[in-house]
Amino acid sequence: MLNELILTAVAYLVGSIPTGLLLARAFGVDIRVTGSGNIGATNVYRTLGRTVGIATLLGDCLKGLVPVLVAGKLGLADPWVAAVGLAAFLGHVYTVFLGFKGGKGVATALGVFLGVSPLSVLGALALFIGIVASTRYISLGSITAAAAMPFLVAAVERRPLLVGMTLIIAAIVIVKHRENIRRLREGTESRFKA
Ligand code: G3P
Repeated sequence: MLNELILTAVAYLVGSIPTGLLLARAFGVDIRVTGSGNIGATNVYRTLGRTVGIATLLGDCLKGLVPVLVAGKLGLADPWVAAVGLAAFLGHVYTVFLGFKGGKGVATALGVFLGVSPLSVLGALALFIGIVASTRYISLGSITAAAAMPFLVAAVERRPLLVGMTLIIAAIVIVKHRENIRRLREGTESRFKA
């Protein structure tokens, strides 16, 4: 029980590392006052280009993936795998290092989902790519893929606690996109430029 609690706390701290903010800062940019103001890969890409954007995506994704893989390697039961995954995700969204104001959680959620159900991620990724390719709205792709994830995990894994974790993560990702949703409705959301 103590080991599980320690891993959950470590997952939260790892998730809390603001990859995009740190990388952007290395280039002299405060990502919180640039572009959309989000600390995630999309805004870093928008502001500093492909290499730094992809590095942010990888870093944020690994923050979710590694703790869940460690939980799996240690043979933890589903309630703890779900707790570890959720903790890493919450770390990114409500990071202790930035006064509990973090990102929208998409890349870290991707890492968590890759760790618990890679097959489901393939389905969500196909949806994401299809939407972004046809609309060039990353946010719309993220929202749709997040909304689909609980259904995909329920169909593929049949592990209720992991479905529950996915549901909570998806709901938070969507709520964190409320500004994007407003801009999408008003037609002012920025489109992705490769
Ligand atoms: O992952 C976040 C993305 O869906 C939207 O990012 O910077 O356009 O708000 P942004």
